[in-house]
Amino acid sequence: MNTLIFATNNPNKVKEIRAVLGDGFDIITLKEAGILIDIPEPHDSLNANASQKSRTIYQLTQKDCFSEDTGLEVTALNGAPGVRSARYAGDDGNAEKNMEKLLFELQKYQDRSARFRTIISLILDGTEYFFEGICEGQIIGSAKGHQGFGYDPIFVPNGSQQSFAEMGMEEKNKFSHRKKATEQLIAFLKSR
Ligand code: IMP
Repeated sequence: MNTLIFATNNPNKVKEIRAVLGDGFDIITLKEAGILIDIPEPHDSLNANASQKSRTIYQLTQKDCFSEDTGLEVTALNGAPGVRSARYAGDDGNAEKNMEKLLFELQKYQDRSARFRTIISLILDGTEYFFEGICEGQIIGSAKGHQGFGYDPIFVPNGSQQSFAEMGMEEKNKFSHRKKATEQLIAFLKSR
């Protein structure tokens, strides 16, 4: 069994990635590893933020680890909120406020296309590797559904009629950016 530390404090991300990993791989969260820190995401790219998280944990533990950073990139807003997705409505914002702001900003545009993009940074034996997963879709006019997290209620992936928040995790994982990035991570780990 290959064990990796997953440098996140977000239980939703842990659940989604555990569902994809399957036999042969296990992840332990920061909490399970006894690391009680919140790692900042100060950079202007997903790669740099993901990298900061995994490098911080590697420096602390010297153990194989990975992190991920995800952004929602809206075409009409030139890729915003992107790397600022978590803090789009301000530092004391939350998912509701972020969605409210996004729907307000998008009011004047016809083009509702958007994509989630996940970058995974893996540190294995001290070397860093990156993986990417993208899910294309549309921002709908108002929130639908109560599952998932973040912007899930206002995002409908291409090929579905349901928002991510109307789907169970298994259904979300048929489309998900995070699933695609994780599959690449698994393929890489299996190939070694
Ligand atoms: P981060 O990767 O934790 O920095 O997340 C950035 C922002 O995107 C946060 O506001 C998350 O809630 C949101 N986010 C990340 N992944 C997803 C997802 O799979 N669905 C909906 N929102 C997400």
